[in-house]
Amino acid sequence: MKLQWLSHFLPCCFLLPVLMPVGAEQHMFDVTIWPENPVVEHGGSLWLNCSTSCQEADARGGLETSLMKEKKDNGSHWAVFQLVNITEWASATECSFSCYGEHKSVQANIMVYQIPEHVMLDPVPIMEMGKVYNLTCRVANAAPIQLLTVTVYKGTEKLHIETFENHSAPEASDILVTFPITAQQDNHMEEVTCHIALDLRPRGQLLEKTSSSEVLKVFDFLADPQLHTLRYVQASSNLSVTCEIAGVFPAEEAQFDLKFAEQSLNASITLSGNTVRAQAQVSSLATGNYQLNCTVSLGPITKSAVETVHIYNFPQPSLEIYPSEALANNLVTVLCNSSAPEPPSFSLQIQNASGRILASSDDFPLQLNLTAQEEDNGQEFVCVVELEIDGITITKHTSATLSVFYVPEMDELSCPSNHTWVERTQQMLHCLAKGNPKPLVACFKEGIAYDVEEKTQVDRSHAGIYNCTATNELGSSTRTITIHVEYGPELEESKCPSHQTWLEGNLWNLSCQADGIPIPEVFCIKDGKVYNAGRMHNITQSHAGIYYCNATNVHGSITKIVAVTVEYEPEMDDSSCPHNWILTVGTPHVFTCFAWGNPEPTIECTKDGMAYSPGILQNVTREYAGSYLCTATNIHGSISRAVSIQVEYKPEMDESNCPSNWTLVEEALPTFLCNADGFPPPEIICTKDNRSYDLSQGQRILANNGTFWCNATNRHGSVAKAVKITVETKPKMDESSCPSNQTWLEGTLQSLACEANGIPTPLVLCAKEGTTGEFYREQNVSRNDSGIYECNATNGHGTERWMVNVQVEYRPATAILSVSGSLPIRRGENITITCQADGSPAASYTWRLPHASNIIFIGNNSTVLIVHADGQNNGVYECTASNKHGQQHSQVEIQVEDHWLYIIVIVAIAGATMLVLGGMAGVIYYLKSTACKKGEYNVRDAENSTEATFLNRERPCDIDIYGIQLTRT
Ligand SMILES: *[C@@H]1O[C@H](CO)[C@@H](O)[C@H](O)[C@H]1NC(C)=O
Ligand SMILES: *[C@@H]1O[C@H](CO)[C@@H](O)[C@H](O)[C@H]1NC(C)=O
Ligand SMILES: *[C@@H]1O[C@H](CO)[C@@H](O)[C@H](O)[C@H]1NC(C)=O
Repeated sequence: MKLQWLSHFLPCCFLLPVLMPVGAEQHMFDVTIWPENPVVEHGGSLWLNCSTSCQEADARGGLETSLMKEKKDNGSHWAVFQLVNITEWASATECSFSCYGEHKSVQANIMVYQIPEHVMLDPVPIMEMGKVYNLTCRVANAAPIQLLTVTVYKGTEKLHIETFENHSAPEASDILVTFPITAQQDNHMEEVTCHIALDLRPRGQLLEKTSSSEVLKVFDFLADPQLHTLRYVQASSNLSVTCEIAGVFPAEEAQFDLKFAEQSLNASITLSGNTVRAQAQVSSLATGNYQLNCTVSLGPITKSAVETVHIYNFPQPSLEIYPSEALANNLVTVLCNSSAPEPPSFSLQIQNASGRILASSDDFPLQLNLTAQEEDNGQEFVCVVELEIDGITITKHTSATLSVFYVPEMDELSCPSNHTWVERTQQMLHCLAKGNPKPLVACFKEGIAYDVEEKTQVDRSHAGIYNCTATNELGSSTRTITIHVEYGPELEESKCPSHQTWLEGNLWNLSCQADGIPIPEVFCIKDGKVYNAGRMHNITQSHAGIYYCNATNVHGSITKIVAVTVEYEPEMDDSSCPHNWILTVGTPHVFTCFAWGNPEPTIECTKDGMAYSPGILQNVTREYAGSYLCTATNIHGSISRAVSIQVEYKPEMDESNCPSNWTLVEEALPTFLCNADGFPPPEIICTKDNRSYDLSQGQRILANNGTFWCNATNRHGSVAKAVKITVETKPKMDESSCPSNQTWLEGTLQSLACEANGIPTPLVLCAKEGTTGEFYREQNVSRNDSGIYECNATNGHGTERWMVNVQVEYRPATAILSVSGSLPIRRGENITITCQADGSPAASYTWRLPHASNIIFIGNNSTVLIVHADGQNNGVYECTASNKHGQQHSQVEIQVEDHWLYIIVIVAIAGATMLVLGGMAGVIYYLKSTACKKGEYNVRDAENSTEATFLNRERPCDIDIYGIQLTRT
């Protein structure tokens, strides 16, 4: 085994380099065996040739094998051997040579085969449809199995192929191939064979063998046979029998055995598809119960169907009536008779036509006696015989009719007393009479005969009362019949006029009545709305139109078209006669005003008593504008409507609505306005100095000097105009042109020349209050000119009054010096020295006086207070009174005495005057200058006043000395 494995996968030539000793002498040689892969049948023999390429002259070779060998021949470098009786399935055979001491060998790969002794298919049973059966093929003793192919054929079709590549054992063995096959119709009668092939190629040849064939047989036999035959059969009639079996295969192989009463019948077999039918006839049957047996066999199956057939004898009964034609109220006999049936289980009855049993019995004959009545005429009598066999009942009937003769009779049923006919239908005056023999009926209306039982076309003249008489040989009878004729609706023009005219607002009754019996129902339809005739409606215009009036009764329906016209008073609305029109001057225009109304109204419009007819093309002028009254009139009334026409035109400006020159007064808000005529009211824009002003609403605008360009515009055009504005002002005086406070210096030339602003330049006149003289030229002024002046500035727009306060100023004058206190001035007393001077503006005072620490200036410096006078206060006190125009000086000398009597010497210097006043409650002395006595002094109220007044008299002296003796009280 191992050796063979080596020979297969490790050939000698590949082993060689490995086996060679390293460093041995190089003698390359080959060992060859032929054939390398021999094929031999089991037990056969084989030649093998060994050779080498060794150069050594006597190279020796040999064959080592487990098989039986016979050396036959050899030569230089070769040897031939025969191997015989080769039965080892796996043998080892090796050919070897030695060359220069080196040994080499090669193996022969011998394949042993065995042709199968036989190939056999197992017998196949008859197959039942749809079932699965095995096809089994047996192959005996074949090798090598790996190269075997088993094929199962159905005819030439390969059903199954099986190979055995994976089989490993080399020895021969038996093979069993099984293949399932399903029984089907197309397998039926097919030949099945088993074929084997042992393919030794390419080492050997292809060996084949085929089994003998097996024929497949398939059958299908599921259903049971069905027997079709009568189960109850009248004796001595023929019976046909059918036995049928469906769904069988192969149908033609089904075998039938059909037996009646154990006797096989001669059946004829018919085939149709998978159904087989056997049919046979059984004749000349005697009464009794018999068995029918149908047996069907197919393949291995046999099935039977069995039925019992009952054969009976049942004669037809007879029925006789004595007499069969009788007069009413006579006796009649009815007789039913027959021979007895087989089997004898029967009953019999006499019945009338409606099945009522009149007589019954279990035996023949059966007799019935009765008295003939009118209603028995035509009466049928039936003899019914019932035979019972094996639980079923077979019945036989025989019938006969009785005739009864009687006088004619008519009743509501045969000759109804009222008929209602429909006109134009075919009708018959239906009046039948009972009676035997059949009576003749004749009908008369007003002496005229009408054919009964004949159809006539009905008209209204058929209505009426008929007398009908029925007559036969036995007598006669009479009946009265009333016929009513009905007919379908008719809409006559007289009762339903096809043209109707109504007046709106009236009550309306659709006048459409129909003829017809029964009285038809009438309704009319317009625009899908139903109007019932006879119902009242308030007429509106919408009632005008086409009405489809329909009259209906049971006999039909008729439709008539009624055209309704509704007349109405004129009507106008905003769509037909608009209230407001806006037209444009110069354009052609048709002013329209329509009115609805039936009959069509006429329209006239009036304005200010003038009549206008609408609808005429005219060129629009401004006279068109105005209020119109349009009136539409027809025979049913009239309606009026106010129409207003506005006429539009382009703007117009003239001196009346937009003057071109304006003189305005500034103080009165200098405004102007500019209007324009035009419709629609134009937009008015005035422009000056690049500013625009809208005057459209008639408003005024503030203006200043200059020219405005005014434009009036509406959608019909534009007009422009220049408006020149001149603004003047009222007189106006102010501080700059006429100061309200003026100060002059006495003795200078002055004028009160005031000016005033204003256009035109105003004239100004001033006068002192309380005087009439005007003061405007220059003149020398005195302090008497001080006062309030009234100035009046006047121009065309008014007068302005302005008050001026004039103050005339002058130098201080006449300084008066007065001393207070008790005289003589004693040490420790308080003394005041007061200086007073007249001047405008008021004088201010300064002093020159002895330096002393107890002096206080009070009252604008005008008074000096000496507190606790003492010797330091002795001296001259000089007062200077001054204003911007000049100054005045005055002096007084003060001596303070230590004695209680004092003398005060007062020296007046430079024309000044001094007054010495005594103490509050003291006595005042006036001392006059001894040197000069030119002044005159007035002491008022010496006791009560501290004031002395200088009378402005001319004085020759410069110095006045006043001595005032003050005494103590
Ligand atoms: C071959 O061997 C078989 C059985 O081993 C034997 O019966 C037969 O005689 C042998 N034939 C020869 C020719 O040796
Ligand atoms: C057919 O053979 C297979 C195995 O060989 C077996 O299992 C099966 O039961 C057989 N079928 C029938 C119908 O004999
Ligand atoms: C019907 O006939 C078959 C064959 O002739 C028989 O085997 C079978 O028993 C019979 N059946 C009856 C119910 O007699």
